[in-house]
Amino acid sequence: MLDKIQSMLEEVENLQANSAEEIEALRIKYLSKKGSITALMADFRNVPADQKKEVGIKINELKSKAMDKINSLKENFAVQDTEWNALDITRTAYPVGLGTRHPLTIVKNEIIDIFSRLGFSLAEGPEVEDDWHVFSSMNFAEDHPARDMQDTFFVESHPDIILRTHTSSVQSRVMEKQQPPIRIICPGRVYRNEAISARAHCFFHQVEGLYIDKDVSFTDLKQVLLLFAKEMFGEDTQIRLRPSYFPFTEPSAEMDVSCTLCKGKGCSMCKGSGWLEILGCGMVHPNVLELNGIDSTKYKGYAFGMGIERIANLKYQVKDLRLFSENDVRFLKEFEAAN
Ligand code: DAH
Repeated sequence: MLDKIQSMLEEVENLQANSAEEIEALRIKYLSKKGSITALMADFRNVPADQKKEVGIKINELKSKAMDKINSLKENFAVQDTEWNALDITRTAYPVGLGTRHPLTIVKNEIIDIFSRLGFSLAEGPEVEDDWHVFSSMNFAEDHPARDMQDTFFVESHPDIILRTHTSSVQSRVMEKQQPPIRIICPGRVYRNEAISARAHCFFHQVEGLYIDKDVSFTDLKQVLLLFAKEMFGEDTQIRLRPSYFPFTEPSAEMDVSCTLCKGKGCSMCKGSGWLEILGCGMVHPNVLELNGIDSTKYKGYAFGMGIERIANLKYQVKDLRLFSENDVRFLKEFEAAN
């Protein structure tokens, strides 16, 4: 009996079928009431007691092999059959949906493009920074109230390690490695401990600019920023510089552009003033040069920093900052034309 089971096992292993009918015929041949495996099982009672265990195991193995084999033939056949019937080779293909660039990427690339035409190259720094690069090297004194200007995320148990609150930290990263002339822009993500709303978020993006050389003046800064504003918002854009304060620049200024919506006449976006604030800037403070290993008697510089979301809002009138990080495809698709 064992020999018979063994040869049936081999037989079952090699079964083939080309249609549903052939598979059904195999099932009947082996597994139906009158099938050969069923007959073998009926014969089992005639097996001598001392062989029952061994033979029983083998018969069970044969039966489950046969069931598996027939099921797998069925599966193969079913897949082939439905795939083939469902295939309409004359049908036109579905249009492939193309992705779009994120609006912040579009605006960032545009900013990079404008400044690279003016000879600025790209620089980067880490988002998880130390206190030195974010504050101390940027002339924020230990007890300087300006440190409170920005709500900082600290790494628990490492008060010296923080998430950078501005891309100005990259100024220091570059200066410590490179002597002037330096002409860089640094785009990147920054973090502030703010409650998330339509007008504020706990992370956003900035582009920092830094130019250090001999004989750099405020006029150079103003000229570069005017050109940037015209390239970004249109040839008829005007700029206005207002005195301001930052620890890392002296003198410092904030720059407004003529309102992109009403062209300076006054509307709800510019709150009737005709102007929109877009960036902070100034002449690099001599302390910052010295703290970062650059001789302030030989070199001067200017710096500026702007928020990418802010520029994108003005260009595309996005009313809610949260849209930028929610990845709603309907929102992202609106920028298809700008890609
Ligand atoms: N770091 C400033 C901020 O986050 C922006 C800024 C202002 C950057 C003036 C500068 C600058 O480089 O000169 O608000």
